[in-house]
Amino acid sequence: MTGELSPIDTAKYVAACRAAEMVEDGMRVGLGTGSTAAWLVRRLGERVQDEGLRVKGVPTSTRTAQLAREVGIEVISLDQAGWLDMTIDGADEFDPDLNLIKGGGGAHLQEKIVATASDQMIVIADAGKEVETLGAFPLPVEVVPFGWQTTRTLIEEALDAMDVLGTSSALRMNGAAPFVTDEGNHILDLHLQRIGNPRQMALILNQVPGVVENGLFIDICDKVIIGHGDGRVELR
Ligand code: 5RP
Repeated sequence: MTGELSPIDTAKYVAACRAAEMVEDGMRVGLGTGSTAAWLVRRLGERVQDEGLRVKGVPTSTRTAQLAREVGIEVISLDQAGWLDMTIDGADEFDPDLNLIKGGGGAHLQEKIVATASDQMIVIADAGKEVETLGAFPLPVEVVPFGWQTTRTLIEEALDAMDVLGTSSALRMNGAAPFVTDEGNHILDLHLQRIGNPRQMALILNQVPGVVENGLFIDICDKVIIGHGDGRVELR
């Protein structure tokens, strides 16, 4: 199924396989979004087919929902599940406190809701996602389309007073048109370089009118499974 994988895909794959082993029969599992989470969904699908594993999956995007159905995982909504045994998802960055930047795939709103409604959140990532301080990866912020330029100005004003190195932002594009999330919103990617106080940053961003959700996950992730290109796996 995997063929010849590049080192980066090997890293994502082995992390995803380790996480898939943690899923037990009968569990309700939040299914993340992105290339690493896609390996997890495929591996869980194999377990459903080969072992008869019974699992109910709550996807965090339409993309993941489609893949989960394709590989034979029963898909239910978060409201049908009520609460989840675990969520397994990728990340764009994680720091020593297991704080995350997510949203590189534009799905962090649903990802945060689903992860927060779970007994535990397990992140699967290649080793390149580990950082001392968050912020090299542009921080995604989901904003409503109405007045988004005003929202951007308000965000940049709020950031001026904070411990960041830069404050430029860019509207995420999909070709010539703004990227549209599953919830019909846009994404501003904030180029901050270094986020000195992620907790404060998350609170301040979510206070700006027009902001729906930022991509900082604070005190949500319980464990990170790190995959390496040579097939090794580490836990944090
Ligand atoms: C999507 C996400 C992804 O988990 C994150 O972007 C990592 O993606 P990948 O596994 O493709 O590197 O947050 O919103």
